[in-house]
Amino acid sequence: MKGKVTITIDGQQYQVPEGEKLLWAALDCGIYIPHLCSIRGEEIPEASCRLCFVEIEGLPDPVTSCTQQVWDGMVIRTRTPRVDRLVRTAFELLLSNHKLRCSECLKNRNCELQKIARERKLKLKLTRLRPMLEEKPVDDSPDGFIYDPNRCVLCGQCVRVDRLVGTGAIGFVNRGFSRRVATFADIPLAASRCNQCEECVKVCPTGGLVFKK
Ligand code: FES
Repeated sequence: MKGKVTITIDGQQYQVPEGEKLLWAALDCGIYIPHLCSIRGEEIPEASCRLCFVEIEGLPDPVTSCTQQVWDGMVIRTRTPRVDRLVRTAFELLLSNHKLRCSECLKNRNCELQKIARERKLKLKLTRLRPMLEEKPVDDSPDGFIYDPNRCVLCGQCVRVDRLVGTGAIGFVNRGFSRRVATFADIPLAASRCNQCEECVKVCPTGGLVFKK
């Protein structure tokens, strides 16, 4: 059985499981750290969204909390000018390639982007960057869900879950702002090897994959 270690987050001490990743330890303690790409229990986190930065005493630069294991005596600050700047920039970069009409989105009010904006008092609109979204076709071929690449944040959770359940129907294609999740051969989901288990829909943090009802 795992032991406990003591860490300090924003001046408050907590006992957390030894070896736990800092992101999940903090969330379990009720401390919110923005995150989109990490899956609890994953041995090697994706660390692609760059939203979960914190500062740790003794380390020269902010680090991603999803990749950092806790240690006894660790002292963490979740809100510093450097952390806030990094999170704000990463968040706006995501928005620059995202369809921002929330009222038309089936995930409205249940979206992680909205939660991050609320928690960190960030605007859900572009203030420094220009929109880079190239509108892509929506795939509504599955019976129970829709894939809208314009609302996807490329967190990769769907692709990793799809692999975990052994379907292997989807992966990433292209690079830069053209990067998107697609079936192999880029055919509609209903025509692909997707068996519509909907596990990918359950983990999608935004309106990228969303139930029709
Ligand atoms: Fe850590 Fe995405 S949750 S980089």
